[in-house]
Amino acid sequence: MKVLIIGNGGREHAIAWKLKQSKHVTKIFATPFNPGIASIGECLSFQVEAIKEILHFALNEGIDLTVVGPEVPLSLGIVDAFRNKGLKIFGPTQAAARIESSKQFAKNLMAKYNVPTAAFRSFSKREGLKEYIDSFKLPPVIKADGLAAGKGVIIPSTHDEAFNAAIEILEKGQFGSAGASIVVEEQMNGPEASMFALTDGKSFKLFASAEDHKRVFDGDKGPNTGGMGAYAPSAKVTEPIKNMVCEKIIAPVIAGMAKEGCPYTGVLYAGLMLTVDGPRVIEFNCRFGDPETEVIMPLFEGDLYEAFMASVSGTVDSFELKNSSGSAATVVLASGGYPDSYEKGKVISGIEAAEKCGATVFHAGTKSENGKIVTTGGRVLNVVGRADTLQKAIDTAYKGVKEISFEKMQYRTDIGKKGLL
Ligand code: AMP
Ligand code: GLY
Repeated sequence: MKVLIIGNGGREHAIAWKLKQSKHVTKIFATPFNPGIASIGECLSFQVEAIKEILHFALNEGIDLTVVGPEVPLSLGIVDAFRNKGLKIFGPTQAAARIESSKQFAKNLMAKYNVPTAAFRSFSKREGLKEYIDSFKLPPVIKADGLAAGKGVIIPSTHDEAFNAAIEILEKGQFGSAGASIVVEEQMNGPEASMFALTDGKSFKLFASAEDHKRVFDGDKGPNTGGMGAYAPSAKVTEPIKNMVCEKIIAPVIAGMAKEGCPYTGVLYAGLMLTVDGPRVIEFNCRFGDPETEVIMPLFEGDLYEAFMASVSGTVDSFELKNSSGSAATVVLASGGYPDSYEKGKVISGIEAAEKCGATVFHAGTKSENGKIVTTGGRVLNVVGRADTLQKAIDTAYKGVKEISFEKMQYRTDIGKKGLL
């Protein structure tokens, strides 16, 4: 079977790596270029938004299954376009992807189906805004409604700061059309964890839970990033918590989406806060997480093509999704300066040596240049360790990290520590 992967980050390399192990997959295509995927498949040069061109390629090439990594093509309707032409594609339709692309949609859905989340109201103008903000004891969180590349969430420390942030978005166009409306919501407290449900719109099965490390520096200090590392499974997602999330969050959302006329297919990513009142939803994503996928895939014990096909063909109920009882950790090697400005084009050495130490390396922001691998993004590589215990997984990942270098490389030294109870 021929598979096409949309996206070229560490997440997509991890998906390609796992699909490569499938007994069904004979050829992997991916777009745009990722040197890691290029070593196990063929890379194309279409950007992920170029839906028409990608569809044309898939039809001509006779692609059997397309897998979509990032949210942008999903929110642009790539699944609808492929299905209209009778092609199989893993992911939600444009209407279902609103669970991520519109925070208002997600919050209204949760309110309607009694899914635990922060109290909220939506605003598209300032009338009533100040009164609502001031009605909270803690300053409320301000969120742009649409996709803002992970930057549309403001956690203010005072009520005035909350109001000013809301006005910046609504009236000064800070996030463009993504901020035409906002959600103002109660600030919640507690540890965070993420869960990932494979679904066909009716049933679901869980991949390993995970914990991202969003802040750039050790000890969760410094600005937010796309993620500096992750480990799985989350130590906080105990059996009772898992059961609660399935019963009170994932099942009602999947049933609710079907009732609303937009059944959700693909993977549903639930970002959770484990509050004293139980797990509550921070946000949903309509795709796998990055860097969470880099630890979920090594723990998935099965044929990934079969898992994706179970979602596409509506057989998730009878699909047995098995995850390893071990642990995995991934350390992101980033360019110095990230998440602010950083230099590109630094030559990377030591990837093979890291893999000889037992680590697996997924490419995120790299390219090939004159036979060398050079940096081209903020998050450059993911170095992954997998073992029967979390400590050993972390040790393997950092052993691999020691082998790799490029000028101004930065990384966190405490990935997974919060899982070592
Ligand atoms: P996001 O950019 O949507 O992934 O959100 C970034 C982070 O903001 C989350 O991981 C949480 O740490 C935090 N956050 C979002 N909503 C809330 C909330 N209602 N209360 C407290 N923290 C929140
Ligand atoms: N790691 C966070 C995300 O993928 O949204």
